[in-house]
Amino acid sequence: MKTIKITFSSLALLLTQLVASAEISSASINVNLQEEKAPVPPTLYGIFMEEISHAFDGGIYAELIQNRSFEEGVLPPGMKLVKKPDGALKLELTSLPASVPTNRWDMPWPWFMGLGWDTNRALVGWSLLQEGGAKGEMQLTEANPMNAASSRSLAMTITPSEDATGRVALVNSGYWGINVQAGTSYKLKFDLRPVSYEGQISASLESDAGKVLARHDFDPVTAAAAWKEFTATLHATGTDPHAHFVLSFRGQGGLQVDWVSLFPPTYKNWPNGLRPDLAKYLADYHPAFIRYPGGCYVEGYSWEQAPDWRRMVCPPEDRPGMWGYWGYRSDDGFGYHEYLQFCEDIGAQACYVTWAGMTAHPDDNVPLEQLGPVIQRTLDAIEYAIGPVTSKWGAVRAKMGHPKPFPLKYVEIGNEHPPAIYGDYYKKFREAIKVKYPQIVVIMSMFWSGLNEAAIARVGDTNIDMVDEHAYHDGAWIRSHFDYFDHYPRKPWNIYVGEYASQDHSGDWNGALGDSVYLMMLERNGDLVKMASYAPLFANVNDRNWGVNLIEFDASRSFAHASYYVQEVFNDNRPDVNLATTVAVQPTNSNQLLLAGRFGLGAWNTLNEFKELRIYDENNKLVFSDDFKTLDNWDTPGTGHWQVENGVLKQTDASLAPAMLFLKSFKLEKGRVTLQARRVGGIEGFQMLFGTSRPERGVVCNYGGWGNQKSAFEVLLPSDIITKVNGDVQGPISNERWYDVSLVLTNDSAEMLLDGKRVSTVKAEVEPAFFATAGYDRKSKLVVVKATSYSSQSVQAEIQLVGVGKVGAVGKHIVISASSQSDENSLDNPTLIVPRELPLTNCAGRFSVELPPYSVNLFRIPATIK
Ligand code: AHR
Repeated sequence: MKTIKITFSSLALLLTQLVASAEISSASINVNLQEEKAPVPPTLYGIFMEEISHAFDGGIYAELIQNRSFEEGVLPPGMKLVKKPDGALKLELTSLPASVPTNRWDMPWPWFMGLGWDTNRALVGWSLLQEGGAKGEMQLTEANPMNAASSRSLAMTITPSEDATGRVALVNSGYWGINVQAGTSYKLKFDLRPVSYEGQISASLESDAGKVLARHDFDPVTAAAAWKEFTATLHATGTDPHAHFVLSFRGQGGLQVDWVSLFPPTYKNWPNGLRPDLAKYLADYHPAFIRYPGGCYVEGYSWEQAPDWRRMVCPPEDRPGMWGYWGYRSDDGFGYHEYLQFCEDIGAQACYVTWAGMTAHPDDNVPLEQLGPVIQRTLDAIEYAIGPVTSKWGAVRAKMGHPKPFPLKYVEIGNEHPPAIYGDYYKKFREAIKVKYPQIVVIMSMFWSGLNEAAIARVGDTNIDMVDEHAYHDGAWIRSHFDYFDHYPRKPWNIYVGEYASQDHSGDWNGALGDSVYLMMLERNGDLVKMASYAPLFANVNDRNWGVNLIEFDASRSFAHASYYVQEVFNDNRPDVNLATTVAVQPTNSNQLLLAGRFGLGAWNTLNEFKELRIYDENNKLVFSDDFKTLDNWDTPGTGHWQVENGVLKQTDASLAPAMLFLKSFKLEKGRVTLQARRVGGIEGFQMLFGTSRPERGVVCNYGGWGNQKSAFEVLLPSDIITKVNGDVQGPISNERWYDVSLVLTNDSAEMLLDGKRVSTVKAEVEPAFFATAGYDRKSKLVVVKATSYSSQSVQAEIQLVGVGKVGAVGKHIVISASSQSDENSLDNPTLIVPRELPLTNCAGRFSVELPPYSVNLFRIPATIK
């Protein structure tokens, strides 16, 4: 089988000119104020938070000490370590459920490499320092644990030196550094069991160069068998964004340490709270809801390992934490309670994703008849959030300091479970929830792109409140599917797009342009799509699990990708209702030669021969011919080994995929190509190549492609041309037989033939480069127009308001733009792409505005409806 990737990169070397272009110079946006369309739901813009890429621990959860309770190396429950044939360790279930074939447990996700495990991870974050002749040892121990939640602590022995500077110190690097700022106070807490230790203990924050930035000396410690808590506030007098924490022992004896925790000031000053800069991005977005805590994170690998909120509604020290789906441990400090608190703090509704009793492995599910306790766990979660203080879990909430109910409105059952049987799980959960909490919207999870029809059928449309369809598309898909939801079936349930993100590079401007168009698609289908949230939200740049993320950070800095600003501006300017809007652009690109370009011949690990090449124009006039007496017409040497012999062009190297040879100067625009071709060895048939106009572009007439199984067009046009291929001919190309092959080309279509019979057709069209929607904000009496232009030149847009009453001349034009589609915000340049305001003083029933190149635009036009 061939892979398109190889073909692209090889082709890219050969191709240069530009043929089709999405450029436009002007546009008209016609908005009819008399024709209201779907309402834009106030719930549309939300947030999805998942523990991925250190989003929580080492991210928004403000704790500065990594591996604070020394539990990082603890295996997740229900799992064991086994050695692979190459000696590496991997995680497996302790016992495979009967439904799981023993040879099939390996996770399907390739990036986990079979859940590898590194035993060195147990002490991640920690190191030992020995200075001035003092000696120390440290090792993890399970003896005399600090409490029931902590299975491990660190045992140390300290041997002093004569030297007054001698110390043994336990050093924590934080999450790739600790951000220490002069003038800031840090709250420290740790637990010690000074079994035989006697002496001094001090805590400090130190720079890499060893400069002490903050220090606290504790009273001398005497030996004791019991655990004792130590607290202090470290006042920083110096700054280092990559400092580390040091617990120094100047004394002698053995001791155990556990639960070393250091907090900077937090968002709204909550104890056990959040990192202010990261929390602020979310608060500033004014999300209608927050989905939490996953994502795949919710699924777990074993039944026991799936996240359980009940472990997280107690003091942080009593939370056992868990090694999670994305390959690292979370202390669960930002737990269910803190999540609900954060929702309340920023005025968002909670959307809690509960474990469905189905793990990440499609065969490993709690049998339906044993689902009772899993459902009860979910009912208890709801009770914790909104039950009265007299209820069991409402009382626990009150004990946690929050007697009032939290704003929980949505519960989603599991995440991305493709099997049809998931429908039965959803149904059971929903039935149980509705009995007690009819007001809760129970969300059914779908997979990537589209509906899980089989699962929906098992539930029945009227038994579903909302479905969560995930949408990881690239920009090209989005641009060519602007009407995707327009044609969606309207059913008794609504749609939540729980995860979307244009998958272009690592979150560049092109991706954000795509997201703006996607959001317009959602807004204008507000009768159907009620909620949406981008994913993933956060990534620590030192340990990313996912390519395209919204907000990235290190220990001291953070930045939002351009898509964040697009979403923020869209949400801040969300109209109440859509207005009928039409868009026309000039030029329309209708006569472009979309498939024109160089012409070539090719092979894929195959020896072929070609003869009698003829090319006719659209009036059937012969415009080019070659009887292969020489290679003069060809751009030699090409790739492969090409030679002519007795009027036959031969490719004689079967090791190359692809082998290609292009005509030197002839440009194939439209018309007809005829040729004779045969294969004489190798694994496939033969190829004609055309439309080869620039890197990553071209169309292949692939005869006997895909391992000589079928003939069809293969299109390599990933950017601004949309193509649709129809038809193929199944079966191989035989050896040693000459075939008549031909190609018929028009402006925007092609047909390939074999022995006079049609094999396949392809239709091309220029991807739209301009999108707009409009709506009305009733309270502020504003027409809100959103317009995205992919054009590399400014676009003069005329906005016409049909059926308008009075128009105020002074409006607002908010624009986000970049000088290139690949521009991107970064830690070093965090505000390269941010919204700015341009003057808008000529608003009227019909007026003209200029849209910068590559721009997302938002117009607020004061206007009444006639
Ligand atoms: O957002 C990252 C992951 O993508 C989520 O965990 C999962 O739900 C989806 O597949």
